[in-house]
Amino acid sequence: MNNDAKWWKEAVVYQIYPKSFKDSNGDGIGDLPGIVEKLDYLHELGVDVLWLSPIYKSPNDDNGYDISDYQDIMDDFGTMEDFEHLLSEAHDKGMKIIMDLVVNHTSDEHSWFMESRKPQENEYSDFYIWKEGKNGNAPNNWGSWFGGSAWEYDESKKSYYLHIFSKKQPDLNWKNAEVREKIYSMMRWWLDKGVDGFRMDVISLISKTDDFSDGKVDEGIYGDLAPFCINGPHVHEYLKEMNEKVLSRYDIMTVGETTGVTVEEAKKYSGKNEDELNMVFQFEHMELGNGKYGKWNDSPIKLSQLKEIFDKWQNGLADTSWNTLFWSNHDQPRAVSRFGNDGKYWRESAKMLATCLHMMRGTPFIYQGEEIGMTNAGFESLDDYRDIESINAFHELVDELGISKEKMMLYLKKISRDNARTPMQWDASEGAGFTEGNPWININCNYHVINAQKQINDEDSIFNYYRKLIKLRHEKPAIVYGKFQMLIKESEELFVYERSYEETVLTVICNFTDKNIPCELLREREDVLISNYSNRAVKELRPYEAIVYERKCR
Ligand code: GLC
Ligand code: CA
Repeated sequence: MNNDAKWWKEAVVYQIYPKSFKDSNGDGIGDLPGIVEKLDYLHELGVDVLWLSPIYKSPNDDNGYDISDYQDIMDDFGTMEDFEHLLSEAHDKGMKIIMDLVVNHTSDEHSWFMESRKPQENEYSDFYIWKEGKNGNAPNNWGSWFGGSAWEYDESKKSYYLHIFSKKQPDLNWKNAEVREKIYSMMRWWLDKGVDGFRMDVISLISKTDDFSDGKVDEGIYGDLAPFCINGPHVHEYLKEMNEKVLSRYDIMTVGETTGVTVEEAKKYSGKNEDELNMVFQFEHMELGNGKYGKWNDSPIKLSQLKEIFDKWQNGLADTSWNTLFWSNHDQPRAVSRFGNDGKYWRESAKMLATCLHMMRGTPFIYQGEEIGMTNAGFESLDDYRDIESINAFHELVDELGISKEKMMLYLKKISRDNARTPMQWDASEGAGFTEGNPWININCNYHVINAQKQINDEDSIFNYYRKLIKLRHEKPAIVYGKFQMLIKESEELFVYERSYEETVLTVICNFTDKNIPCELLREREDVLISNYSNRAVKELRPYEAIVYERKCR
């Protein structure tokens, strides 16, 4: 009997980016009835939990991550009835739904902010982080993560407010107990409606230090606000309070997006006492290769470094906490384009990456389209981009820091968030089965080749491979609970590890290259649990080959 067993450890999560999932009414924007139409598809894939990126009322400055009403649905996506229908249909099929909780900031069009900016003192005056300017300038040199200063002057209040993201996303003042109570009651309202948990947006940023001095300037003119805002002094106190007052009262799943988290911090967010969150997203494997312009660069990454990060997190959280496993989400480029090969070995590498991730310890998250091997957008013109971060970064790097346009277009093609935000490719019809209208963002032109319809009935498809992986996880406790051990750490070609649980040992061998690579661990007599090649490797792994052996030892 496993005392640590929990349903959310055994679950596989599927992230839906509603705007690009399925449009039901031809306006070119995905919506809630569209998701309902595709529940059978998700059920067939076998996932247990759906995470919906924000569906709340929003002026869409940052595609719904700027919320103007937490208790209403974005017009583009439908109505509250549509949501309730989706929730009950998903529940009927045995799938849970977790919501994106975006409470580090609201939209500047949220009624709290509209009240807060009024010159007359009122209940909301202190709901945001207001500071006086210094000699006619912003309170300090902090730079927003979406470009420009992190402070915006408000004419009516004659004061500056902090916005880590866009100026339409003012940061809430979590020091104010009233703010926290309002958020908790909103959370209870959703949980009482029956939602099954939350993914908490940039939750590691909610507590700022009292020190508002200048940040370190690396490149350009703005200072780094990270040391003042990430894992701040009261963040654990707030989450413990949230847990006590809300989370602990429901049987739900919680996952924090914890930008800048370390293993030590993660143990606090998701520790043994279970008094904060169930698990957190760490981003070290996503940030590997970041350079002087942050994520905007095109330097290659070393496999040994990638493995070192996984090794550290797999073992670091083994005794006290729980990992999340992901290669992609709506903020990252497509996994197969980034870590695999989206040309000749598209199919093999997509399956290899899936094997490598899904056999590890933690809860796997699949980002929509990953299960059919969707690739980066490949946009050639800045006009094709919709993402505020990408567009602002283009102007900042090209106009202010002097990077050439061509170079920046390459960076966008490689790393922009829009790479993963193109519409889901359902079939080969015009509109890719996503819409009958004009899509809000271009559809990847490879939808004739890469689409769900083609893969559902193809035994050898990436989709059916994901199905197998998910099924295996549901059947084999070793995949969920087994101990993790990295092997041949120094290899720059192979990612190899073992999972052991009671008498079962799984050996996972993945080739991250397009070459044949010899490997002494290949065994002829052992049971192959799953592999992306139909015949067995003997002495060497073929390009992007993945193979998992299962052995019993007593
Ligand atoms: C998170 C979201 C991202 C958003 C940002 C601000 O990182 O995943 O999409 O832009 O927070 O809310
Ligand atoms: Ca629509």
